[in-house]
Amino acid sequence: MKLLDTGLIGNVEIKNRIVMAAMGGHGMHEPDGDWGERYLAYFEARARGGVGLITTEATFVSQALEPFAKSLFNVASDKHLASMRRLADILHSYDCRLSIQLTAGFGRVVPFPTVPEGVKPVSASENSYFYFPDDPAWTTREITTEETEALARAFGYAAMRCREAGADCVELHGHEGYLLDQFMTGLWNSRNDRYGGSREKRLTFARESIEAIRREAGTDFPIIYRYGITHYLEGGREEEEGLWIAGELEKMGVSALHVDAGCYETHWWPHPPQYAPPGCLVDLAGKVKKVSSLPVITVGRLHYPDVAEKALAEGKADFVAIGRGLLSDPEWVNKVQSGRTAEIIPCLGCHEGCKWQMIVGEPTSCSLNPTTGHETDRQLIPLKQKRTLLVVGGGPGGIEAARVGAERGFDVTLWEASDRLGGNLWPAAKPDFKHDLADYIKYLNGLVRRLPVNVVLNKKATAGDIQKFGADYVILATGANMEPPPFNSWATDRLLTVIQVLSGMEPQGERILVMGGGILGCETAVYLARRGKLVTISTRGDADALAADHFDHNNREMLLLMIQAATINVLPGTVPVRLEKDGVVAKQQGVETKIAADSLVFAGRFMPENSLSKAFGTRGNIFSIGDCVEPGRIMDAVWGAFKVVREIEQ
Ligand SMILES: Cc1cc2nc3c(=O)[nH]c(=O)nc-3n(C[C@H](O)[C@H](O)[C@H](O)COP(=O)(O)OP(=O)(O)OC[C@H]3O[C@@H](n4cnc5c(N)ncnc54)[C@H](O)[C@@H]3O)c2cc1C
Ligand SMILES: Cc1cc2nc3c(=O)[nH]c(=O)nc-3n(C[C@H](O)[C@H](O)[C@H](O)COP(=O)(O)O)c2cc1C
Ligand code: SF4
Repeated sequence: MKLLDTGLIGNVEIKNRIVMAAMGGHGMHEPDGDWGERYLAYFEARARGGVGLITTEATFVSQALEPFAKSLFNVASDKHLASMRRLADILHSYDCRLSIQLTAGFGRVVPFPTVPEGVKPVSASENSYFYFPDDPAWTTREITTEETEALARAFGYAAMRCREAGADCVELHGHEGYLLDQFMTGLWNSRNDRYGGSREKRLTFARESIEAIRREAGTDFPIIYRYGITHYLEGGREEEEGLWIAGELEKMGVSALHVDAGCYETHWWPHPPQYAPPGCLVDLAGKVKKVSSLPVITVGRLHYPDVAEKALAEGKADFVAIGRGLLSDPEWVNKVQSGRTAEIIPCLGCHEGCKWQMIVGEPTSCSLNPTTGHETDRQLIPLKQKRTLLVVGGGPGGIEAARVGAERGFDVTLWEASDRLGGNLWPAAKPDFKHDLADYIKYLNGLVRRLPVNVVLNKKATAGDIQKFGADYVILATGANMEPPPFNSWATDRLLTVIQVLSGMEPQGERILVMGGGILGCETAVYLARRGKLVTISTRGDADALAADHFDHNNREMLLLMIQAATINVLPGTVPVRLEKDGVVAKQQGVETKIAADSLVFAGRFMPENSLSKAFGTRGNIFSIGDCVEPGRIMDAVWGAFKVVREIEQ
């Protein structure tokens, strides 16, 4: 397998072709920004899992320009450097290499809560500030020539310190519209000094930074340069310039190119949601391979082993970088190596447990793997004496409860009312753009088969059954059901719920009105439109509030683009009130109007299936988790189950 071949970046040999992509982890830092036990344990788990080269989060080369950097890891601090040395030693003990990502800073995309009052964000030029583009008070301050020179020199000092601490290489954070990219890009760089004016001059800052690294850390210290070939943004970088830059970087002496795309305005490229195809950036990397003799690293939804292998086998890249796939499963490489790919915990592309935990200042983690980022504080403690655990409900929450119970040593029985495990993941996984959920169902079924769990299908538990069974602990994970449509239909095949449609029922006719503009309505609308239906969405709210229940803005924005691409019509402020033979009657601002539609598909709210919870009330050994407490997301069900079963009998 090409994935498992050794590879070279500069003079550094890497035992396989898997690079862990940089991912912010400030929620794992010590209060002074240092990398303590928690952060080291997080990386150690990935090194133990077989990764060849681990990239850290972006580390500031200078704390002078962006005040919030002072609370982060500081390469100039000897105390922090000692932690970097420990990290290098730990990774090396697993024959894993360490790459420190170095950043010039955020510039015009710096998060606004971190900007002190009266201080302007900085950038290569006076630019609109990403978060408040129309507010002139937030227009960025152009970094002076002297400040730019100092920042370039800081790359040299930082790289020298990293090398001193045992790092094997550095990666320059030149992508996604951050400060280094702002210098490289005409849209954000309109300077008149030597750092701007032409595309050649816009690379001066990068060139001087690279020269400083080569001067301070040595010409044999490998530099990986990460940048976007195109921003997919009007006025931003086009592919032609991106490929030209590859040649320039090679001349500057970098050792490898890490090929990305997009920027904050088109964030669904560098942060591809669940809707993005696997290996969504591989073809761009392939274009760079054609113009460069440097090793090329590709990234973006490459946690599918076959897709990652194909990218290498087709010569489109030399290394694959995996980010979130190593959060959901730190053992990814070992499982590939030992042919256990079916045991890999898939990444769902949801961004909920990783990016959003990070944004709120919590350890970067994973919806499906609550131990990620919590390697030191969420271990499972084995039981001291034998106990029985009954889990009612075989959705993701129930299965996680069973897993944690079995791993702790409980004698676990799981009852599921239907004839299959997976719960609401089944309708959720129906659209092909939700294939990650189908992978998750397969993973969960395999997991349950491997665990010592007694699974009983077609067993709809009653309160009496549970009492009779007499387990020491009971987990109720009975999920949620969609509320019924608010009116009846004269023809049952013309009024369906999204659950019925996603369970395989076909709405009659061509013209379909989907009632409900939340995620479920929007996804089902796209699913139907891609099957050739003429789809309209009616939503109670405004058109710009469509899919507003999406947790992550990248995921939401990509879904909105899919709605646009599928030419789905959206009727805001519209509430259907009844079905008639030739259409649907709806109220718009209190006035009834007829909408031409053959069928109506209802995307309503979910109501918890909590009859068993109600029957038992609050008892010390019976716990409810997941959607039967409050309908939510997979992460709520998995994390809820993990917490309860981890904490009982400690
Ligand atoms: C169409 C759709 C799309 C979705 N897409 C996403 C998404 O992309 N990302 C995301 O995070 N979330 C998504 N969700 C939400 C997600 O599926 C749920 O949050 C999750 O499935 C909740 O898990 P759970 O285990 O609590 O309940 P469920 O998955 O509902 O499982 C409950 C199980 O309990 C069983 N049961 C009920 N009563 C009994 C009983 N008395 N005895 C025995 N068994 C019983 C049921 O048969 C069912 O199998 C989606 C939901 C739907 C419907
Ligand atoms: C929580 C999180 C933090 C990230 N932080 C960084 C970062 O500090 N530097 C960087 O270059 N990319 C960062 N990224 C982007 C990843 O390196 C990677 O490009 C992206 O997640 C897509 O790859 P994947 O599909 O394998 O996850 C981050 C991504 C996530 C999910
Ligand atoms: S939280 Fe979601 S996107 Fe992030 S690693 Fe886990 S499954 Fe993937």
